[in-house]
Amino acid sequence: MDSRRLAYLDALGVTAYLRRSQAGTRGSEQAGDPLGEPVEALGWEGLEAAVLSCERCGLSRTRTQAVFGTGNRQAQLMVVGEAPGAEEDRQGEPFVGRAGQLLNAMLRAVGLARGDVFIANVLKCRPPGNRDPRPEETAQCLPYLHRQVALVAPRVILCVGRIAAHNLLDTDLPLGRLRGDLHRLPSGVPVVVTYHPAYLLRSPEQKSRAWDDLRFAMRILRDGDGH
Ligand code: URA
Repeated sequence: MDSRRLAYLDALGVTAYLRRSQAGTRGSEQAGDPLGEPVEALGWEGLEAAVLSCERCGLSRTRTQAVFGTGNRQAQLMVVGEAPGAEEDRQGEPFVGRAGQLLNAMLRAVGLARGDVFIANVLKCRPPGNRDPRPEETAQCLPYLHRQVALVAPRVILCVGRIAAHNLLDTDLPLGRLRGDLHRLPSGVPVVVTYHPAYLLRSPEQKSRAWDDLRFAMRILRDGDGH
């Protein structure tokens, strides 16, 4: 198993997939918050404290602040984006810039207020210049997102954009191939993939497809996914 995949599985806490010899090489210093508890054992308070003080990767040196996530911690719908941008880095809240305004409008269109859902990103800290996240950054940060998913226990996740989908679903299929299908995390949580609102601002002709995706997610929310 190559080191990138190993790092990804490690980030998910999927040591069960590793052969014993490989599992033994897993750095225990990697999995934990400053108080020494593994991320998978943290409650909301500890998790938020761990994220806000995180120094697992170099982004901690360039951020203004970490962006934990916001909204209803018992939400039925969870929205997962890529990473904070400049405005989010300034305000400490995800999706508060122009893309966030569009996300709010998309949610309103299906009858949801921003406060009804829980919104989080794959990366909790802004990559300088909004560059794409690096694998070593996502590997360090994904355990936080997976713990958020476990704590919220949503009925469905709406994953916005290629980067979020690739990291959450561990795939490199193009976004166009991921839309329209129901995906599932290893824990069984259903995931619907759609365009990132920032992309929709640049390509408004795709909004009708995003609308289809949203209605698909709402159908899962309402009727379940048949499992
Ligand atoms: N884009 C994202 O993916 N997340 C944010 O929080 C803001 C913009």
